[in-house]
Amino acid sequence: MAEHFRVNGGARLTGEIQVVGAKNSVLKLMAAALLAEGTTTLTNCPEILDVPLMADVLRSLGCEVRIDGATVEITAPAQPNEAADYRSVSKLRASVCVLGPLVARCRRAVVPLPGGDAIGSRPLDMHANGLRKLGAHTEISHGKVVAHAEDLKGAQIWLDFPSMGATENILMAAVLAEGTTVIDNAAREPEIVDLCRMLQQMGAKIEGSGSSTLTVHGVTSLQPTQHRVIGDRIVGATWAFAAAMTRGEVTVHGVDPHHLELVLDKLRTAGADTSTTDDSFTVAMAERPRAVDFVTLPYPGFATDLQPMAIALSAVAEGTSMITENVFEARFRFVDEMIRLGADARTDGHHAVVRGVERLSSAPVWASDIRAGAGLVLAGLCADGSSEVWDVEHIDRGYPRFVENLRELGADVSRVTSEPDR
Ligand code: UD1
Repeated sequence: MAEHFRVNGGARLTGEIQVVGAKNSVLKLMAAALLAEGTTTLTNCPEILDVPLMADVLRSLGCEVRIDGATVEITAPAQPNEAADYRSVSKLRASVCVLGPLVARCRRAVVPLPGGDAIGSRPLDMHANGLRKLGAHTEISHGKVVAHAEDLKGAQIWLDFPSMGATENILMAAVLAEGTTVIDNAAREPEIVDLCRMLQQMGAKIEGSGSSTLTVHGVTSLQPTQHRVIGDRIVGATWAFAAAMTRGEVTVHGVDPHHLELVLDKLRTAGADTSTTDDSFTVAMAERPRAVDFVTLPYPGFATDLQPMAIALSAVAEGTSMITENVFEARFRFVDEMIRLGADARTDGHHAVVRGVERLSSAPVWASDIRAGAGLVLAGLCADGSSEVWDVEHIDRGYPRFVENLRELGADVSRVTSEPDR
């Protein structure tokens, strides 16, 4: 038996929605708790599958983890185990972010490679090179990353690309290295700023958070802390797209609208009205959206995680849009599923050309990853008839209470358990 979402198209989404903490932040903050002996408490955590999976990874390293709704308490031991359990790591790509903290705490880490991903190859060369610069012998072989160091020493590190994961791992190793580390071409995503803020609360000395140059003055130890996870801008933006596509009006609370300035600007270009407060924003669309071009880039560029929503919007917009994917090469694979829903879309290398149609047509479709799944549900909301979105466990990994939230906004969506068609 498998679960799918039945999506009946046609409803305008209207109302208010509360967004909780970001998946792409909480998993790294949980790993950061390894850096200090004692109990670190995270609040505003999303109730998604990846959080208990990350808890299992931390347990395999000797931590005690207690999850109570939106609160996660992690008690890190004086001496964590240096080797992460293969079975836990293999279920969760983000578990690779225990590498930096383990090298920092144990001076040795063995982390199985987390495996492939539907959005494209995700190598770890920049993570490994950064750790090598800090003095850790680091090898990727036999399906594992093995790193060990006598001492970690501050270094100048230039990243080829502002990778979130590499920035996080190097940062979490550098905070306990001797001397000063400078990470150039660092990722600037709000989730990196959130990690810096938590590390600073733990006693780390970091300058330049939110810029592309991070300077870290190593300290000898860190203390556990309490931290509220930043609101999920990707989930917030998903609701913004949903409002625009269904010609609805949705107010999103719990996300800093500054993190979505480019997204809101794109939606205004598409014809939406937007307004913001300090921690909320509203998107209202009265007419059919107009076509807009999107180019994915590291923050503050348009997030690759929102590319499926951009394709979904373009699929029903008036006119032709060009979407360029610069971060994950295989992320257009899900476009075939959009075509199943009646989208007039063609991809060539890292470009997609989408000619908007008045109305999509319902079909069974398969979600290949979290964001592709959300994009397909949004498209289903604009299709005539009843669509089925399968493999929804991907969506559940990133969107807490997705079906419930959609229903609260007036969508006709339900979770169904039955035999899959293929
Ligand atoms: C994180 C996010 C993911 C988001 C992505 C880009 C989490 C859990 N996931 O993934 O949702 O889509 O950032 O914003 O936070 N690369 C290398 N070598 C490396 C590391 C990365 O070539 O050593 C490449 C990747 O293949 C990719 C690009 O760099 O093309 C960006 O990847 P990265 O920012 O590292 O993504 P993740 O941290 O894995």
